[in-house]
Amino acid sequence: MNVKRFYAIAACDPKGVLGKSGRLPWHYPEDLQHFAKTTCNHIIVMGFRSYLTFPKKYCKERLVIVFSRQHQMEFQKKSNVIIVNSLQDFLSLKCLSEGKDVYISGGAQIYTLFLQSNLIKELVLTELKQSYEGDVFLPLSLIRDWPRKKVQENKDFAIYHYLNE
Ligand SMILES: NC(=O)c1ccc[n+]([C@@H]2O[C@H](COP(=O)([O-])OP(=O)(O)OC[C@H]3O[C@@H](n4cnc5c(N)ncnc54)[C@H](OP(=O)(O)O)[C@@H]3O)[C@@H](O)[C@H]2O)c1
Repeated sequence: MNVKRFYAIAACDPKGVLGKSGRLPWHYPEDLQHFAKTTCNHIIVMGFRSYLTFPKKYCKERLVIVFSRQHQMEFQKKSNVIIVNSLQDFLSLKCLSEGKDVYISGGAQIYTLFLQSNLIKELVLTELKQSYEGDVFLPLSLIRDWPRKKVQENKDFAIYHYLNE
């Protein structure tokens, strides 16, 4: 069977903190630019909680697929947003086979779902140097053995590509 696997893109602190109270606990414009550039004209996938605070300017040049069991119709009216209510529902979407890259973009529930299901082929991870308080975490134990390559570094963070070989 031809199993589809996807990219993931995330930023976390040294302990894996991804967010706090539904938001990012930091503001690094350079990392936001990296997210925008990497995902532009591709497909991004996120959970409903992340979609709530996701800057809608990024929805313009990307198809957005949102995971939700509870919210359907009100969001389906937006032309570039698709709601899926399960992993099975997501994997059956035709747009996944139309040549665009697919970036799993959070939050913790959705990264965990895709990592545990072994559906990620490469994780583009911004590792922040500073620690933050948070209430949602990237499951770092699931990528511990993945080989990684540093592609960028500045005083605040380094960006790595983790390969699921
Ligand atoms: N640092 C980063 O790179 C990064 C990236 C993205 C987000 N974040 C942060 O992560 C936090 C949000 O993460 P989160 O884990 O709380 O929530 P989330 O993963 O963004 O969304 C969770 C929601 O997704 C839906 N869902 C989850 N599993 C599903 C499944 N199997 N089938 C269908 N729907 C499913 C449910 O929506 P319903 O309740 O509507 O059913 C669930 O409440 C925020 O703080 C955000 O800022 C950080």
